[in-house]
Amino acid sequence: MSLKDKRILVGITGGIAAYKIATFIRLLKKQGADVRCMMTPASSDFITPLTVATLSENPVGIDFYNSKTGEWTNHVEWALWADVMIFAPVTANSLAKMAHGFTDNFLLATYLSAKCPVFIAPAMDLDMYAHPTTKNNLAIVEGFGHTIIPAESGFLASGLSGEGRMAEPETLLEVLENHFAKDDRFVGQTILITAGPTYEAIDPVRFIGNHSSGKMGFALAEAAAKKGANVILIFGPTHCKTNHKNIQLLAVQSAEEMLQAVQNNWKNATLGIFAAAVADYRPEMVANQKIKKSAEDLMIQLIKNPDILTWAASTKTSHQRVVGFALETQNGLEYAKDKLIRKQLDAIVLNEMGESGVGFGVDTNAVSLIDKNNNIRSFELQSKVDLAFALLDALFEK
Ligand code: CTP
Repeated sequence: MSLKDKRILVGITGGIAAYKIATFIRLLKKQGADVRCMMTPASSDFITPLTVATLSENPVGIDFYNSKTGEWTNHVEWALWADVMIFAPVTANSLAKMAHGFTDNFLLATYLSAKCPVFIAPAMDLDMYAHPTTKNNLAIVEGFGHTIIPAESGFLASGLSGEGRMAEPETLLEVLENHFAKDDRFVGQTILITAGPTYEAIDPVRFIGNHSSGKMGFALAEAAAKKGANVILIFGPTHCKTNHKNIQLLAVQSAEEMLQAVQNNWKNATLGIFAAAVADYRPEMVANQKIKKSAEDLMIQLIKNPDILTWAASTKTSHQRVVGFALETQNGLEYAKDKLIRKQLDAIVLNEMGESGVGFGVDTNAVSLIDKNNNIRSFELQSKVDLAFALLDALFEK
């Protein structure tokens, strides 16, 4: 799910944070969004209309009337064009005008003609942001149904430090992604996801692990969160990161720790997706000190790890569903179906190693989803991010 072909109307007002809008426009364009920008005359002191027009690949709306061409720019048409409007940065002055219906420039007139959802990212000095009139004006525009993207704390252009910095371009992007990804079927759901490998200690410095990157599990967590679910993400050692506010992160190392985290959280979940590559065995004894090399051979006795997926499936209640993953190198369909039945799953995602672009470490994947009624859906090779959205859609299809 991306912002591809979404029509985003960006309104830039005259604050120093306007320079960050260049990055924001780039991020939108990278996702394939159709971007148009409007600027207040004052904002062109902070970022040039040429920069904005070049990055957005569209003419910029500043004035009602173009004295060179004699053309009138129709603010109503601009407003109707947009799927969403996002105003960033919004100064105290522009905010006050938006709250009270002033239309003394093109941006404000277009804002007043909006029928689409509106997002407002204020940016100003900390005392202006804390002033009761700003708070009132924010409450007023919020009352119109607009979404405020709160200012953040940090270093300000005045040299002071405090709340008032415009949210970062990445945050603005995430807010829009969440808006478009929001899916009513996911609101109110709690989805527990396991991801990444587990590391089974041999001694204080060594472990048995595997090449799982955690990318598929993290992509599922982010997609579910963007769709509006609460996500509990339990993950083994990985370089993947997420800071989505709907995702509760629980980092673990070993299979036993992962099982414990799952057991602590399972009762709150409506769906469990077990994407972790859990080590099937662990050393029976963990040496207290680093094992020194002495003998020619070293035997490490392994014992079976608990099967986390099987535990969840065997304890699930009627309002819970359990989805497993199967990574197979041969007879994929047969083995996956066998796991589905043996572990009493609602569905299983089959990864067939060996196909190019599929499996550990890579950013793409191709899988089959098999449900307990033996329906099989194939998902062609695509990014793990897109695949995550597609799999979740399939799991929530009526
Ligand atoms: N899994 C788990 N806990 C384990 C082992 C596996 O939760 N100790 C979960 C994985 O997260 C995945 C599924 O089980 O969802 C895949 O398990 P796999 O190890 O392939 O299944 P096995 O039944 O152990 O079969 P195999 O003989 O192929 O290892």
